[in-house]
Amino acid sequence: MNSREEWGSRLGFVLAAAGSAVGLGNIWKFPYMTGQHGGGAFLLIYLALVFTIGLSVMLAEFAIGRAAQRNPIGAFATLKGKLWPVVGFMGVAAAFIILSFYSVVAGWTIAYIFKMASGSLVGSADELGKAFGSFISDPVEPIIYHALFMGITVAVVLGGVQKGIERACKILMPMLFVLLIVLIGRAITLPGAEKGLEFFLLPDLSKVTAETFNGALSQAFFSLSIGMGAMITYGSYLNKKESLGKSALWVSSLDSGVAVLAGLLILPAVFAFGFDPSAGPGLTFITLPAVFAQMPGGAFFGLLFFSLLTVAALTSAVSLMQPIIAFFSDDKGWHPKAAAVIFGVVIFLLGIPSSLSLGVWSDVHIIREKGFLDSMDYIASNILLPVGGILISLFVGWVVADKMKEEVTNKGEAPFPFMGAWLFICRFVAPVAVAWILVSGL
Ligand code: PHE
Repeated sequence: MNSREEWGSRLGFVLAAAGSAVGLGNIWKFPYMTGQHGGGAFLLIYLALVFTIGLSVMLAEFAIGRAAQRNPIGAFATLKGKLWPVVGFMGVAAAFIILSFYSVVAGWTIAYIFKMASGSLVGSADELGKAFGSFISDPVEPIIYHALFMGITVAVVLGGVQKGIERACKILMPMLFVLLIVLIGRAITLPGAEKGLEFFLLPDLSKVTAETFNGALSQAFFSLSIGMGAMITYGSYLNKKESLGKSALWVSSLDSGVAVLAGLLILPAVFAFGFDPSAGPGLTFITLPAVFAQMPGGAFFGLLFFSLLTVAALTSAVSLMQPIIAFFSDDKGWHPKAAAVIFGVVIFLLGIPSSLSLGVWSDVHIIREKGFLDSMDYIASNILLPVGGILISLFVGWVVADKMKEEVTNKGEAPFPFMGAWLFICRFVAPVAVAWILVSGL
């Protein structure tokens, strides 16, 4: 414990934290959430929440992590003790839940690499939709890919913080960015794409309801990887010289940048091909192959895209695994490698019902009308992360504010111009607004 690993540089840290944030949340979840919640109005509310509450909670997590140099549970215990480590426990529980279904969806992206390579993803938009439906409802095939993804995640975690994650993020994240831009060029020039651009970019405020806020808030927490301590853990590996405020701004901007690019790619194509924007979790997987079918070298672009998406999912999965492992190794004396293998298996098992809930177990409902996968997502994204965010804000704003002020200014050496605004958001705005959105969503 005395010689914790450290990030190689601030760029390495920012890219790794962005690697955690950018993942399926941006490219799979964001477009279908936007589609279900009315388009432009959702985007507007989403961005407003990201750059106020989201950014502040992220900075709060970085500061807690770096001040304590511990995993989320240990961090609260070191800084204050008493009941606060409960926040860390909630975070570790959220990590288990999220990773279990995340890995199932990431398994789909691996499967789509192979399907692109074998040329089996061809046909009309309608046929592509059917192909996706029959793939995810199969009782065996998606579970094999889910196992493969968890296996790769464990392997990366075993490789260590710096070598494994940092190196992958430095090269592959920029590639994903560039590829998205190339693909947008194709999507927005499809006939009929303007309707999708309009839907995404022109807010229709008459569609805003409590649901819109609730969806935007849960999406912001999920996409920024906040509310559960992943960013506390990453902050704990950061050295004392770097500016936390700038890092948080970079990570939030990169993350929402990728989400907006994904929206610009998927939604115009959805309208051009006549899909239903509120179709839900299949949206990206059905729309993209239809786009690839319309471009020269489509199979190559498709292969590259799903490969990069798998890597983006992997860097997020690793960050979900890290708080679990750090807790059991820092505080429980487990060997980190043993923890990685054992919890890899546990999370794999926990993911199986999520996968089956899209096929043979589709009439098993857990929360309201939701199946297992949707219920896991709901418990984590709509409850655990926002509640975690409220508690993290209160903790930083009221309980350890002085220590946190020191931390974000590197003991006074790096002035932080937004101190007043940040503390005001942590003390009042974030707890009240998040609680209000949560309650009105129930
Ligand atoms: N932010 C990740 C994504 O958008 C998912 C994630 C959530 C990762 C919570 C870590 C913690 O894909």
